[in-house]
Amino acid sequence: MRKGISMKNNITIIGLQWGDEGKGKLTDFHSEKADAVVRFQGGNNAGHTVIIGEKVYKFNLMPSGILQGKLAVIGNGVVLNVSRLTEEINALKGDFDISPKNLLISEGTSLIIPGVHPEMDAIQERANSKTAVGTTGRGIGPIYMDKVGRFAIKAGDLLELESLPGKVEKLLFLHNAIRRGVNEKEIKAQDIINYLNECAQFLVPYIGNVSQKLYEIKKAGGQIIFEGAQGSMLDIDHGSFPMVTSSNTIAAQVSIGAGVPLSEIGFVLGIVKAYTTRVGNGFFPTELTDETGEYLRKSGAEFGVTTGRPRRCGWIDTAVVARTVYLSGANGLAITKLDVLDGLPELKVCTGYEINNQKVPFLFNAKNEYMEKAIPVYTTLPGWQTSTKGIKNIKGLPTNARKYLDFIEKQVNSPIISVSTGPERLEIIEIAKPVL
Ligand code: GDP
Ligand code: IMO
Ligand code: MG
Repeated sequence: MRKGISMKNNITIIGLQWGDEGKGKLTDFHSEKADAVVRFQGGNNAGHTVIIGEKVYKFNLMPSGILQGKLAVIGNGVVLNVSRLTEEINALKGDFDISPKNLLISEGTSLIIPGVHPEMDAIQERANSKTAVGTTGRGIGPIYMDKVGRFAIKAGDLLELESLPGKVEKLLFLHNAIRRGVNEKEIKAQDIINYLNECAQFLVPYIGNVSQKLYEIKKAGGQIIFEGAQGSMLDIDHGSFPMVTSSNTIAAQVSIGAGVPLSEIGFVLGIVKAYTTRVGNGFFPTELTDETGEYLRKSGAEFGVTTGRPRRCGWIDTAVVARTVYLSGANGLAITKLDVLDGLPELKVCTGYEINNQKVPFLFNAKNEYMEKAIPVYTTLPGWQTSTKGIKNIKGLPTNARKYLDFIEKQVNSPIISVSTGPERLEIIEIAKPVL
């Protein structure tokens, strides 16, 4: 028999559609009993909302668990815009004061530099409107390119300011070559060095070894929540390429982006909106461009947190969710925004597609060009005409709402452990705990 102290399993929160599933709300909900909450990929392209009573918090970079007073951790897999982080910290002042006691940033985190990466993002997006991704314009693609190219500036570089000139020269070599090619003004190395020196004054006290800290938390029997950003269909390798973000967004990324073993991923909680939304370009077989789509956008307040863009809306696509449940090995699901469907006479659920005259029941190939030809196959279920807003008990749900949830659960092969019935922290039905 193995001996050891009993440990609470970690929880990994992953969006199973195209983002904005409600990851922020569920991270906050599950953070109450945790010791640390960790972002492990993405940057300030993310927009996570937590509503507590009358207060609305919108985070781009700060892990949502900060609101429960937990240690907030930014892992090496994140791309960090220091200027944006300082804005978020200032906005929290008074309610939550941030100090190195409750915020830790990995020395391996790559830095998004204003004037460099967002500008390169814009240059790429402008190149051809037909192939534009519809990015958030935050410089996400360019900074991940620089990281893989081995010349991104890392948070840890701010601990050795004397080394910056050589590193900045290396960073600017390609950026300036491209800028010259498209008639943009070259970036001066000294401007970037000055900016990084300013960043250092603020950031250095927060920089540390995330992998070691998380190791110590677990050794002491603690619990860690890993807060995913973007959705699984935006994963650079397994999403709707090339209409994706530039990081891996599925559960396996936890290990790489936070420096923990795969065994620490813990309970994978997949977040699924009761319908589907997408911001930006790319395939979306169940998209509704009619009044029902407009109804979902209005009733669900579907406007991007980061860019304010209206989100494209459509029916739930269980072929998408079955794929993303599989990719991350989701142990359970949280269904969000059920209340948004209140009052619709009937609901359609996509269970597969017809592509090139062939039936496709499971989405093994999610590449954009292939999936653009997909015709959805639907099952129609009756709606419910009463309000589910704020219901906290599964028995309180209308029978047709329960049937809708049961149908989804069967299609995607993962148990529903909670149902969110409103944006507020406590508007949630807890069916089971995320325990392995
Ligand atoms: P995230 O990026 O996955 O964290 O999600 P966002 O915060 O971008 O988008 C989710 C939106 O839905 C936010 O405005 C939330 O406040 C809201 N929301 C979350 N859960 C529910 C719910 O159950 N019902 C309703 N009506 N709104 C919700
Ligand atoms: P959260 O964490 C929804 C989308 C963009 C675009 C594509 C690439 O709030 O769910 P990028 O700026 O990452 O290079 O853009 O990805 N996108 C998101 N869509 N929610 C997000 O984050 C997103 N982050 C990026 O709209 O289509
Ligand atoms: Mg969001």
